[in-house]
Amino acid sequence: MFDTLKKSVAKYALSYIKKNSIIGIGSGSTIEFFIKELYTIFSNIQGVVVSSKKSEKLLKKINIPIYDLNSIQNLDIYIDSADQVNSSLEMIKGGGGALTREKIIASAAKRFLCIIDKSKYVNTFNNFPIPIEVIPMSLMFVSREILKMGGFVKYRKNFITDNGNYIIDAYNLNVIYPTNLEKIINNIPGVVSVGLFCIRKADTLLISYSNYVRTII
Ligand code: 5RP
Repeated sequence: MFDTLKKSVAKYALSYIKKNSIIGIGSGSTIEFFIKELYTIFSNIQGVVVSSKKSEKLLKKINIPIYDLNSIQNLDIYIDSADQVNSSLEMIKGGGGALTREKIIASAAKRFLCIIDKSKYVNTFNNFPIPIEVIPMSLMFVSREILKMGGFVKYRKNFITDNGNYIIDAYNLNVIYPTNLEKIINNIPGVVSVGLFCIRKADTLLISYSNYVRTII
């Protein structure tokens, strides 16, 4: 069922793409559906900037030109999914571990279009672990800081990010003020980035339900 919803929202997102533009592309299973849809219009776009090696591999297979973010000055749109989105369009991302590159490209883009199936839309964040990318030597230090904040941690086993770092999944943190929490975690030395996307939240959210796609701006 969720695959059908992911597919329909991925298809709907095509209508947000401007002719001959370069677009930012995220990672994850929803985005894999989006990449398949992109193939149907690939001659209409100039190319993409991409947030993970996995997405890059898929885009290369369908011969879409890939640009380095350093080589472009303006990025019109970044299209990605999320693990949870609240009613303020703040997100938890990084379930797939690509959060750092996702945050960079999202921040560089004029517009963040977030595409999700209905299961991910929540009033307030609940129970989803917050991914934190850390430099390997800081793993234990950052973990102790998270414990001091009342959270607990799990390490992603056998997982190294595209940047050569580790991921901590933080549970039980108080997410009532998610922007504050994002700033606090960002400030722990050794943290590369945190999967709270509140400072750079979505501008437009597309949510797929069985018979329609809802747009929230
Ligand atoms: C990857 C992400 C993804 O957007 C998020 O995990 C959602 O993935 P999926 O589309 O597979 O449900 O943030 O780092």
